[in-house]
Amino acid sequence: LRENALHEIETATTSVKDLRQAQVGWLGKKGSLTEILRGMKDLTPEERPQIGALANEVRDTLTGAIEDRQKVLEAAELNKQLEQETLDVTLPGRPVQQGQPHVLQQIIDELEDQFIGMGYQVVDGPEVELDKYNFEMMNLPKDHPARDMQDTFYITSEVLMRTQTSPVQARTLEQHDFSQGPLKMISPGRVYRRDTDDATHSHQFHQVEGLVIDRHITMGDLKGILLAVAHELFGADHDIRLRPSYFPFTEPSVEVDISWGPVTKDTKPEDIEWIEVLGAGMVHPNVLKAAGVDPEEFGGFAFGMGPDRFAMLKYGVEDIRNFYLNDVRFLTQFDRKG
Ligand code: PHE
Repeated sequence: LRENALHEIETATTSVKDLRQAQVGWLGKKGSLTEILRGMKDLTPEERPQIGALANEVRDTLTGAIEDRQKVLEAAELNKQLEQETLDVTLPGRPVQQGQPHVLQQIIDELEDQFIGMGYQVVDGPEVELDKYNFEMMNLPKDHPARDMQDTFYITSEVLMRTQTSPVQARTLEQHDFSQGPLKMISPGRVYRRDTDDATHSHQFHQVEGLVIDRHITMGDLKGILLAVAHELFGADHDIRLRPSYFPFTEPSVEVDISWGPVTKDTKPEDIEWIEVLGAGMVHPNVLKAAGVDPEEFGGFAFGMGPDRFAMLKYGVEDIRNFYLNDVRFLTQFDRKG
């Protein structure tokens, strides 16, 4: 019995579970050894101590052997588990698909960074706007013919989708406390016009409004800021040009072009190709008055830039609608990190 049991313990058991079963088989309540001990009552008084001692010895041997075997098996099972769960840290990783800011947001972020660096605050305004801010306070009373310049989505006669970010000028001017210092702000955001979409028109697009009001602001300040922006976005070898224009809320008003390619001192003026990118001008006294600011004491400039236009120029995008179709094949081309 002992020989058999020892042999089974050493060879037949390949897991801790097997071992337990074997243990029950030999030493359990109905185990072989237990049977023998139970049979002791049938033995003669002379045989009893001999067999008893032998049975005890066998039990001790088996118990010891089982414990030893258990240690070996547990170690083996642990090793096997560790082996299976090993990570090969030298395998190349699987790339994680990452998103990125929309290309227009990237342009707007760049502009914001630059203006914040020049001490401007960034202001938000509502896209569903009152006629009062979008038009009336911007020197465009109800019957003003220049309202036709901006085909408007009206919600009611007094509420509309803003056609420009200029109403944020009126809202900010109205709130500003000039005893705390000059007003320098930009306001990026979406605007809406009842245009038919085509390659260069979208019923929804973006503007970045700018407004600086203080004492003694000149048109030279305006041109300096715009040149700095053009250099930052397109490179220091690009030039800008101011052309006279008309907006109801600025006087004088200008349209601003940026050179398509680089301009050096050898470039002939007639060889420069100009692209219109924004409207600007010196803030009209009526706009200041409507917001409760004295035009005799304060004045300044305003501009409205088109980030969609900037992005089209910068990346050679030929159709503005690409920005609004959410086609990832288009959008992932403008990965800032790539
Ligand atoms: N709001 C004008 C437009 O949408 C742009 C502009 C802004 C012009 C500020 C002058 C000053 O066309």
